[in-house]
Amino acid sequence: MTPDPFSAKVPDAGSAMVPVLAERWSPRGFDPSHVMDEPTLACLLEAAQWSPSASNSQPWRFLVTVRGTPEFDAVVRSLAGANQVWAPHASCLIVACRVMSDDRGGLLRWSAYDLGQAVACLTVQAESLGLSVHQMGGFSVEAIHEDFDLGASVEPLVVVAVGRFDPDADLPEDLRERESAPRDRRALSEIVVDGREALRS
Ligand SMILES: Cc1cc2nc3c(=O)[nH]c(=O)nc-3n(C[C@H](O)[C@H](O)[C@H](O)COP(=O)(O)O)c2cc1C
Repeated sequence: MTPDPFSAKVPDAGSAMVPVLAERWSPRGFDPSHVMDEPTLACLLEAAQWSPSASNSQPWRFLVTVRGTPEFDAVVRSLAGANQVWAPHASCLIVACRVMSDDRGGLLRWSAYDLGQAVACLTVQAESLGLSVHQMGGFSVEAIHEDFDLGASVEPLVVVAVGRFDPDADLPEDLRERESAPRDRRALSEIVVDGREALRS
């Protein structure tokens, strides 16, 4: 049997994580024949909609574009560098934006946090439907503002590519190598601060 070139993407088999989290990763190979249907797209957005947020402020806006439309092409044009190579094959590109201030001009302090959490929910929903997600910070915020009417206190933070993973996608050599490279993370010992040790006496 041919070994799975993407097996290094999944953490150790001993992980107790739910499979949808353990098996998630951010591919660049998307299937250009996959079409995002409306009910699926609505379900992804609903997952974001029902995410928690500070004081239920829901400080997010999702600019939705599907492949094969002028608005999708405008988002593609805003992408930086290699993102322009692979992202056009995604089924949809969603520009996830945070709302920076409320109706009275008050700062929505946790808006970036809330938006990130909403995108995480959308991602888990997509994965559980057999789709893949790849977020991109590499894009021009100015280009998005130029091409789309988003409102003054709305800031695009990330472009979210959603589609069906294609293991045989035709990627340039450097991207192909990264595609099957193992995922790595800092050890828990590096990122977890034990309260007992950190407590000032
Ligand atoms: C806010 C944010 C910005 C990112 N920007 C890019 C990007 O511009 N281009 C890209 O190829 N990947 C981008 N990524 C994907 C990360 O590189 C990726 O999530 C990380 O390397 C971990 O890999 P994994 O998602 O497969 O576990 C971004 C991810 C996040 C959350």
